[in-house]
Amino acid sequence: MAALGNHKVCPYGATVKVALGISGGIAAYKAAELLRLLQERGVEVQVVMTRNACEFVAPLTFAALSGRKVITEMFGGETGGAANVESAIEHIAVAQSIDALVIVPATANLLAKMAHGIADDFLTTLCLATKAPLIAAPAMNVNMWENPATRKNVETLRERGVKVLAPDEGYLACGMTGAGRLTSIENIAQAVLATLGVAYDLDGEHLLVTAGPTQEPWDEVRYLSNRSSGKMGYALAEAGRRRGARVVLVSGPTHLEPPAGVEVECVRTAEQMAQAVLRHFEQATVTLMAAAVADFRPVEVHPQKLKKQEGIPALKLEPTPDILAMLAPRRRPGQVVVGFAAETENLLANAAAKLREKRLDFIVANDLSQPGAGFDVDTNIATLLFPDGRAKPLEKMSKLDVAQRILDEVVALRQKSGVRSQEPEERKQKAVAHASPPTGPQKT
Ligand code: CTP
Repeated sequence: MAALGNHKVCPYGATVKVALGISGGIAAYKAAELLRLLQERGVEVQVVMTRNACEFVAPLTFAALSGRKVITEMFGGETGGAANVESAIEHIAVAQSIDALVIVPATANLLAKMAHGIADDFLTTLCLATKAPLIAAPAMNVNMWENPATRKNVETLRERGVKVLAPDEGYLACGMTGAGRLTSIENIAQAVLATLGVAYDLDGEHLLVTAGPTQEPWDEVRYLSNRSSGKMGYALAEAGRRRGARVVLVSGPTHLEPPAGVEVECVRTAEQMAQAVLRHFEQATVTLMAAAVADFRPVEVHPQKLKKQEGIPALKLEPTPDILAMLAPRRRPGQVVVGFAAETENLLANAAAKLREKRLDFIVANDLSQPGAGFDVDTNIATLLFPDGRAKPLEKMSKLDVAQRILDEVVALRQKSGVRSQEPEERKQKAVAHASPPTGPQKT
């Protein structure tokens, strides 16, 4: 995991890995939702199920969702066949490769085994063999939860640093009412992300991101466009989603896969992009205009292909709407608007002029003349320019890392405007607080 500022981020390619242990309880099916949430945040998930868990949900469900084999047996091996050397040490390989182990649901039996160091299947062996942080989300009958044996086991585990998330109270599957319901998947995801140190500091925010080029048709086959792969905008959308924001991505034509969990609106022309942006702008708390919008379009669009026998045609152009400039008078206080400037010369002066003219919170200036910056490459070399004259040059880094740095500035601006009051550290503690031992007496 790459460390950036005061938190870590998952680099492109999702290298933060979590083992999701599932033990045998009614709530086992809820682990599917956690799997999806973690994957959306860019976390790679290896599912491990106990034999009893397989009675509640078929491993195939989790294999299909995670796109990888689900480990159910101690000596199952890659193919699930007879034991071999590889399968005999698989628990050690998994134990060493993970950044956290989260158990959802954790039954009373599993908590007891964990507390006493019993390792009689893959999951309990993994608990012993890994040095990664452990998080357990219990779910069980209220009497089992309140039984002194379970209370003692939970206490022992918490003393050892295991984050045992307090279960919720309510109607239980067994028909009783009380403490024992699995806490919400959102709480569990927050606890896992906080443990991993992955920021979750944009939850509740609504990001509007534009990406890619626009195409301005001239005739049925020809168009004017800008060089742009869309990678920077897609990286912003992905990073925003991972950090908890709702993300709408208005994308011109690209060859990129939309990031998971992002709402994508595909457009072609600057006019269409302008309409889409204006439609989403009112709801957006943060707008990031990474698209390379074509500045001109043919005045006349020919319905048929222009034939060369008819001679060289005249091409008359007119300006497209300047979308960012249109946003300035529509902005609400606290709404953050960020622009991009890709320049081939006089980078900082040109970018500073755009920052002023379009009344932006800051602008991301890219020097296209440098190797490792600009179109089609996965890296970028950017400088962030602010209205007070500050300039933050970033070293050459992946577009996803640039996206994370941009979002760090967005979070700082939202906090400055008083919209986001909690510092990332406080939010992290809030997430971890779910792991604290319950204070008052337990209701029955
Ligand atoms: N932009 C926009 N609408 C346009 C053109 C640009 O919203 N019609 C946005 C881009 O998405 C970017 C910023 O304005 O965030 C700057 O874009 P750029 O093409 O670098 O600058 P222009 O304003 O078009 O100026 P110039 O062509 O003189 O460089």
